[in-house]
Amino acid sequence: MGLLRDFIKKITHPFLRKGAEYYYRKPRPYSYNGITTIVHPDVFPPHLTLSTKILLNFMSDIDLTQKTFLELGCGSGIISLYASQKGATVTASDINKTALEYVTKASKENKLPVQCVYSNLFEALQEKQFDYIFINPPYYPKSPESVKQQAWFCGAAFEYFIALFSQLPTYLTKENTTYMILSEDCELEKIKSIASENKLTMELVYQTKKVGEKNYIFSIY
Ligand SMILES: C[S@@+](CC[C@H](N)C(=O)[O-])C[C@H]1O[C@@H](n2cnc3c(N)ncnc32)[C@H](O)[C@@H]1O
Repeated sequence: MGLLRDFIKKITHPFLRKGAEYYYRKPRPYSYNGITTIVHPDVFPPHLTLSTKILLNFMSDIDLTQKTFLELGCGSGIISLYASQKGATVTASDINKTALEYVTKASKENKLPVQCVYSNLFEALQEKQFDYIFINPPYYPKSPESVKQQAWFCGAAFEYFIALFSQLPTYLTKENTTYMILSEDCELEKIKSIASENKLTMELVYQTKKVGEKNYIFSIY
């Protein structure tokens, strides 16, 4: 297992992505539950990473019928499209315009309505309320040098989390639920401390170990 994990890390880890760059040199389809989306090389790749699949599996047990759903930072959009298939009214936001262009196409091709919004975190979401917010954040502490890198790097001083946790309280109510996936690879205590500075609690609701790596889903309130 250790060897397999090391191999997958070699091709997916942002610092070791020689293999991944070759694999993702052209747009690649990604399918889940009969939905297919095309993932552009500049967009976060769900094929070889674990977090997207873990969130998709986690969602399968949630009744999303007639719920409003936001995927903050939608990347390939597969989570948004699946939420739409499960009956939610879906908003998919991202700071990556290429990602949004491809999600818009996939929404039409799969006949699954998703409203795509170009937004830096919540900036363009106009204080709209959602029953569910799903976040698979960038978490490596390094300054992103391109839009593509914003899928991986949260800023050397965790700027992504500082901004996210200062904006999030406006979107939280007693009735709605926000889930965020993180991995043992990230600085969990640092991220929790930024949440706590904003009077937010991160409660562990699910954990799984895949290819030797522990992943955690937190509910934030
Ligand atoms: C780890 S990827 C997850 C993509 C997708 N949600 C998934 O699970 O496959 C993080 C996504 O967040 C987006 N992102 C990063 N910073 C952002 C910001 N400030 N505002 C909106 N989206 C952002 C990235 O462009 C990327 O698509």
